[in-house]
Amino acid sequence: MTNETSGPLWTGLELMVAMHARAHGGLPEVVTGVSIDTRSLMPGDVFFAVAGEARDGHDFVKAALAKGAAAAVVDEAHAADMAQLGPLLVVDDVLAALVAAGRASRARSRARVIAVTGSVGKTSTKEALRQTLMGQGRTHASVASYNNHWGVPLTLARMPRETEFGIFEIGMSAPGEIASLVAMVQPDVAVVTTVAPVHLEFFPSVEAIADAKGEIFSGLAPGGTAIINRDSPHFERLKQHALASPAGRIVSFGEREDSDVKLVRAITKPDMSVVEADVMGTLVAYRLGTPGRHLVHNSLAVLAAIQAIGGDLCLAALRFADLAPPEGRGARSELAVQGGSFMLVDESYNANPASMQAALHALGQAAVTLRGRRIAVLGDMLELGAHAQKLHTELARDVVENDVQLVFAAGPQMLNLWHALPMERRAHYADEPGGLETHLASTIRAGDVVMVKGSNGTRISRLVAALKARFPSVHADEAIGA
Ligand SMILES: Nc1ncnc2c1ncn2[C@@H]1O[C@H](COP(=O)(O)OP(=O)(O)OP(=O)(O)O)[C@@H](O)[C@H]1O
Ligand SMILES: [Mg+2]
Repeated sequence: MTNETSGPLWTGLELMVAMHARAHGGLPEVVTGVSIDTRSLMPGDVFFAVAGEARDGHDFVKAALAKGAAAAVVDEAHAADMAQLGPLLVVDDVLAALVAAGRASRARSRARVIAVTGSVGKTSTKEALRQTLMGQGRTHASVASYNNHWGVPLTLARMPRETEFGIFEIGMSAPGEIASLVAMVQPDVAVVTTVAPVHLEFFPSVEAIADAKGEIFSGLAPGGTAIINRDSPHFERLKQHALASPAGRIVSFGEREDSDVKLVRAITKPDMSVVEADVMGTLVAYRLGTPGRHLVHNSLAVLAAIQAIGGDLCLAALRFADLAPPEGRGARSELAVQGGSFMLVDESYNANPASMQAALHALGQAAVTLRGRRIAVLGDMLELGAHAQKLHTELARDVVENDVQLVFAAGPQMLNLWHALPMERRAHYADEPGGLETHLASTIRAGDVVMVKGSNGTRISRLVAALKARFPSVHADEAIGA
């Protein structure tokens, strides 16, 4: 027997009703998870045969059921062929069925829900919220950057009915996308971390990006809280979106004196920051376990959101010390090299002008020993359209201002930066990141800090993997010796 707030994730009957599905081959009593990928599917999951970019999920129904899926959600066109494979829930459209399950999950939930969007900082902020709220109640959050037309309904459909805090990342690459995603999520609190020239290829201007981000407020539950970056040049624009939305409250965060959640002081150290913030009159002091000024800003948004949902600020502040950067977003490893070790900063998850500047600034704060140097290994920032050349060239200023002594650059766009750099800072240029490996490996010496960053599409993460394969981890060696 289940009621609204306890019991299994789904009963087969609940799903069938929510999706207006037709059951074939037996209706599972209980469904314990939701999957769209057989590689990560667990027995008891319901498998949605969603169409991907390259393959159709219907190609994997057999594998899903063989792996122990409780049932597979398939469309009418495929149902007849699959009738013998196992329990099926047959629908008109599989993605629409996933959305319907997501909506049903939201409708039954009593969770307080936070939605996070922004040009950069969505995952960092979502993860910080997850980790700081975890100790305060049953918390459910998006996996990785599951922030699009399938990621958002999937995260909703996976939300246990007893969830107390739900945290959703919402992304977009076109106007209107956020409005339709946030309508499913119906958050109590909506955060815009930043607005920056990201995906500029698809938008006429940064203002148009701000408008698209502002759509997040349209889905707020009536009286909900809109949280906006006060330091953003687009603050007023975003505020207009919030004013036109069901929001009952607008909370700003930032360094400016008139921010509601205000940075009082931040001491940024090579491996952490010490922060004091004024959260609408309550002073909160904390240590942030991950370095970088940009993460200090994100922490203000986190505090604003926690306060807005009635969480405990002090408990949250205590958790900040233990935060670790999500993979590829500033994770540090100490690797052995002749005569000692060097620090590898893995920023290879993605890159755009805002996160590139933030990463170069953090590199500038990194501690180097007497002989050590700050080395940036940079791949192209993609999807910048007509602005690409200018935005790459302009990074030369950040390189110099942050005292980055050597730059390894790869890709046609990074050639613009390469030519703009002072001669003494040019280490090596290659057409693609793999072409840097040999030179980079022979240049690195003890005491260096090496930061690797580029857009995901440049595959610069392979260079990080190559460096890790070439230079043993200092801590791993210690563990073996211990
Ligand atoms: N407030 C910020 N300002 C600038 N850079 C940031 C900020 N927050 C995070 N970053 C950096 O931006 C990069 C992407 O961070 P994150 O993954 O949190 O963003 P995202 O918005 O989730 O990205 P995606 O759209 O790819 O899902 C990382 O290098 C991270 O360190
Ligand atoms: Mg993300």
